Amino acid sequence: MYKKIGRNDPCWCGSGKKYKKCHEAFDDKLIKLEHEGHIIPDRSIIKTPEQIEAIKESCKINIAVLDYVGEHIKAGMTTEEIDKMVYEKTTEMGGIPAPLNYEGYPKSVCVSIDDVVCHGIPCDEEVLQDGDIVNVDCSTIYKGYFSDSSRMYCIGKVSDEKRKLVDTVKECVEKGLEQVKPWGFLGDMGQAVNDHAKANGYSVVREIGGHGVGLEFHEDPFVSYITQKGTEMVMAPGMIFTIEPMVNIGSADVYVDEDDDWTVFTADGSPSAQWEIMVLVTEDGHEVLCY
Ligand code: MF3
Ligand code: CO
Repeated sequence: MYKKIGRNDPCWCGSGKKYKKCHEAFDDKLIKLEHEGHIIPDRSIIKTPEQIEAIKESCKINIAVLDYVGEHIKAGMTTEEIDKMVYEKTTEMGGIPAPLNYEGYPKSVCVSIDDVVCHGIPCDEEVLQDGDIVNVDCSTIYKGYFSDSSRMYCIGKVSDEKRKLVDTVKECVEKGLEQVKPWGFLGDMGQAVNDHAKANGYSVVREIGGHGVGLEFHEDPFVSYITQKGTEMVMAPGMIFTIEPMVNIGSADVYVDEDDDWTVFTADGSPSAQWEIMVLVTEDGHEVLCY
């Protein structure tokens, strides 16, 4: 529940404006939704215009790094070489790769091939092969602000089955994005993602999802893609979160590699794909910040 503020007091958001001229109507709307039984965002995850501008600068680096990877990635390259590209491009632009040393993660980027669902650790021994589908998940810290997005790359001649998976997961993200608007629910987005995956015969990973992002790498809320319309957290202007479903051709079950404690595989060995974007909820809809 929100703390009461005098109408003529400065707004909690730090704008310097009077509360009644700033976030009062916003709070009233959320309090009403909370009374109706909905989950509402904490103030700590509502970004100010200044924070949004700073986060966008971080996003610019993340986008440039993924563009750079896209120009160079090819069969015969090791995943270690991708890591090196990401480290060099990010630092050259003044950023820090957010994964490096994050909770003990040893590299600058996650590279996940075929049946690796996510968090694949780059190494010298892993060579990209013709026909691979590869997720490169890139995250940047710039002046203390975080960005996070991932793309799929098809290496050489990819089977129709895998290409369809890659294309469909991108469509899932787009369908989810259409649902992002103020005073809707994260479940509206989650269900749109899931419905499209299911309609194509695929399954969506349950245990791992998206997250708030910007001031930290991973903030509230946890963003699931197995949720129902009208449920989960209310989307309010100023929230920034990722849409990053992991979708499998086979079963939704996954497991974590026992040796490295990071790499997530599909339980049945079937291919998996993921795209990740960062989206801002605006006053009248949404804005994609990173892709
Ligand atoms: N980039 C991932 C995400 O989308 C998080 C990776 S954590 C790491 O949330 F430590 F593996 F990098
Ligand atoms: Co993410």
